[in-house]
Amino acid sequence: MRAVDIIRKKRDGQENTREEIQFLIQRHLDSVVPDYQIAAWLMAAFIRGLSDNEMSALTRAMVESGKTVQLPSMTLVKVDKHSTGGVGDKTSLVVAPIVAAAGVVVPMISGRALGHTGGTLDKLEAIPGFRTDLSLEEFQAALREYGLALIGQTAELNPADRRLYALRDATATVESIPLIVASIISKKAVEGIDALVLDVKTGYGAFIQEQGASRQLALRLINAAQEFGIRAAAVLSDMSQPLGNAVGNSLEVAEAVRTLQGKGPEDLVELSLEIAGLMLVLGGAAESHDAGKELARRKMETGVALEKFADLLFSQGSVADIRRLLDELPRSRHVYEYGSPREGYLAECRADQIGWASVALGAGRDRKEAKINAAAGIELLKKRGAPVREGDALALLHYDEAGALERALGFLPAAFEFSETPPPPRPLVQEILGC
Ligand code: URA
Repeated sequence: MRAVDIIRKKRDGQENTREEIQFLIQRHLDSVVPDYQIAAWLMAAFIRGLSDNEMSALTRAMVESGKTVQLPSMTLVKVDKHSTGGVGDKTSLVVAPIVAAAGVVVPMISGRALGHTGGTLDKLEAIPGFRTDLSLEEFQAALREYGLALIGQTAELNPADRRLYALRDATATVESIPLIVASIISKKAVEGIDALVLDVKTGYGAFIQEQGASRQLALRLINAAQEFGIRAAAVLSDMSQPLGNAVGNSLEVAEAVRTLQGKGPEDLVELSLEIAGLMLVLGGAAESHDAGKELARRKMETGVALEKFADLLFSQGSVADIRRLLDELPRSRHVYEYGSPREGYLAECRADQIGWASVALGAGRDRKEAKINAAAGIELLKKRGAPVREGDALALLHYDEAGALERALGFLPAAFEFSETPPPPRPLVQEILGC
């Protein structure tokens, strides 16, 4: 078998066999097939699409590229959540401690920033000393001790996704339903979980923007999870504007902590409770979604979830004290206030443009080797529907270098759209599937 023939077949619109896909993934990890051939195959798969058989073969090859978490002595139900990628989406940082505080185990393998969207791993790494690279042994021990652990793909757990994820980010091959499904479900299948809640984003800031297509993505994710014996539900949520007010790693950790202190922005609280509520139902801790949301709210309002977050920091090597964490997070050298160019109502506050502006400030990567600036990002002072006067501050840009600010400012005129009358309301949670 030769990689070039497998690529040519996909390029010409033919179906690759299970063996061919297995060969590509395995030989890439063995450093026999180079990055450029995988990148070419990814682009062919992006343009031609993958059949259900190909998508399932890719998912399985990625799962089999490493080991699987084994927790035979843990009888508690294990439930995770995963988002298809958003801007300002720090929900995992809020939801994981809430759910673990209610007695459901949360083993979470997350990703890094991808394109204009943020990544949970990059956010966690903004916390001084926090380790996302636990070994399989350490991951399992943290789950046994504290009931939650958040890590990335490692050399042991799904190394194939680690490599493909970084390549997709740098080759404009992210926005593909089968590649997203294989990437997400392969990460979740190695966690040894019983159930999964998927937060499928739709709207400007989502990788799959159109609502019908996002719904298709949700259904394919649910089916693919079920192939691995994982019970799954999905929330279809609006990502046309960023979630919460903070975009950028350190800023988002601070917002997540404030949310666990009961001082979070309304939209972030709403989505976190929806997702946590579903996880608690799937985890057997609540009878209904409403009861799950109520239990989640109590865990947040009583501070129990914040204590769980403190456990997470301790367990994963952070030296930060939860009471002082907000002061210890990295800060940028400069803050620029972006004023409204006109009067009216904010008709859109586009997540894609704000995401790219945040990447330009240093919160994301343009090459797979690029380093993230943990302190860089954007604080939104106004969101969709707000009335504004000319010159009102719409956002604060946190940056270290003038060049980064200049590049970021290039995205902002397209980020904010205005109208004479208030825009029609747009629900944050659009649909719940599979529960
Ligand atoms: N999240 C992932 O883990 N993978 C994708 O491809 C997109 C979002």
